[in-house]
Amino acid sequence: MTDIKLSDEFKLNSGVVLPNRIMKSATSEQLGDRSRNPKPDLTTLYEAWSRGGAGLLVTGNIMVDRSALGEPFNVVLDEESDLSQFVNWTKAGTVKGNHLWAQLNHPGKQSPNVLSKTPVAPSAIPLEGAISKSFNMPKELSEPEIKQIVGRFATASRLAKEVGFTGVQIHGAHGYLVNQFLSPRHNQRLDSYGGTLENRMKFVLDVYDAIRHEVGTKFPVAIKLNSADFQKGGFTEEESMQVVCALVKAGIDHIEISGGSYENPIMVNGKDQQIKESTRKREAYFLTYAESLRKVTTVPLAVTGGFRSSEGMMNAINSGATDFVGLARPLILKPDFPLAAFADSKFVLDWKEPTTGYKKLDSMTMLAITWYETQMWRIGKGQKVKLKLSPWKAIVSSIWKLVTSPPVKKRV
Ligand SMILES: Cc1cc2nc3c(=O)[nH]c(=O)nc-3n(C[C@H](O)[C@H](O)[C@H](O)COP(=O)(O)O)c2cc1C
Repeated sequence: MTDIKLSDEFKLNSGVVLPNRIMKSATSEQLGDRSRNPKPDLTTLYEAWSRGGAGLLVTGNIMVDRSALGEPFNVVLDEESDLSQFVNWTKAGTVKGNHLWAQLNHPGKQSPNVLSKTPVAPSAIPLEGAISKSFNMPKELSEPEIKQIVGRFATASRLAKEVGFTGVQIHGAHGYLVNQFLSPRHNQRLDSYGGTLENRMKFVLDVYDAIRHEVGTKFPVAIKLNSADFQKGGFTEEESMQVVCALVKAGIDHIEISGGSYENPIMVNGKDQQIKESTRKREAYFLTYAESLRKVTTVPLAVTGGFRSSEGMMNAINSGATDFVGLARPLILKPDFPLAAFADSKFVLDWKEPTTGYKKLDSMTMLAITWYETQMWRIGKGQKVKLKLSPWKAIVSSIWKLVTSPPVKKRV
């Protein structure tokens, strides 16, 4: 066992230095304005996170295509964006000298029916699971449309660098478009983007190459990738490892490991309810996969999901399986969680996950997300987090967002 501290810096292969080992994982804030530029609330929120001590902040997913949104008030970064509002955001989000990376995303079929009459996907296969009724049947993307989307990722990354983000992260996890291409369950194409794993990973490699071409070799390009989809016929751990190796060969700077999708949201529910108590104590949902991955690559790794204490995070890092720990919900409820963890090796953040008391309703309304979104809106308004926030209030607020959603641009 080496003795690495959470506050130790880390140098990426490109020479870029991240000030410590705590990373704020992406948390979709839905704090875009009606033109889908960042609202001042987003600036306030990220300043709180910058002051909270994490060495790397990753934004909530920023959409690369304004005709394809995951949520009604997503921020979009494209040629129509008001870049001055993004500059305000990046300045506030780096006020303490930390890194701020833009998470770039395309939802594919995970775009709800109020936002997409006909979402796009690798194949015309409907979404299943508890919330499937909120999603329409997708249309299969043509090859020219695929190339257009790759181009949108490239444009967004060029603009991200221009407005002051210090890196970008491709959202390759949680069932969104990149993940849909990787998954044999969702990608049943017969052309060069489907079939073998080599073909299924062509989309992500094309996206990576196009981004790298725009931003150069010194600008961090990262990915959040599923360790697996945890679904029958889905993307497996063995396949994920092969994709990591291909991305490393292509030059990726940093890989964050997660898992699951809207069909099976284990990224917020935890991987395995039957895990042994000894494993549960490790907190991290995806650490076992990281241990296997470590045997095949030395690429900088982050593991996200489940960390709640200094000890859990330190053990994960000192196990050698991961270089960074990713935190989402703890940082929403306590934006200065990293400072608290640096100062106290026994620090634990404990709270009760919100529930209406009706499991099905919790799933259908994605309460495990919406309750935390409402907390971020409070911080953005300069208010305090409210641990006793009523789940019903969070549900009403998120329905209100859906109802007041600005019209979505038609696909051309
Ligand atoms: C409110 C909320 C929004 C999220 N939005 C995103 C997102 O935009 N992109 C992403 O990759 N993950 C997103 N996630 C997942 C988190 O990044 C993280 O993987 C998950 O919450 C597990 O980490 P935790 O146990 O530290 O919360 C979101 C999670 C929450 C709670």
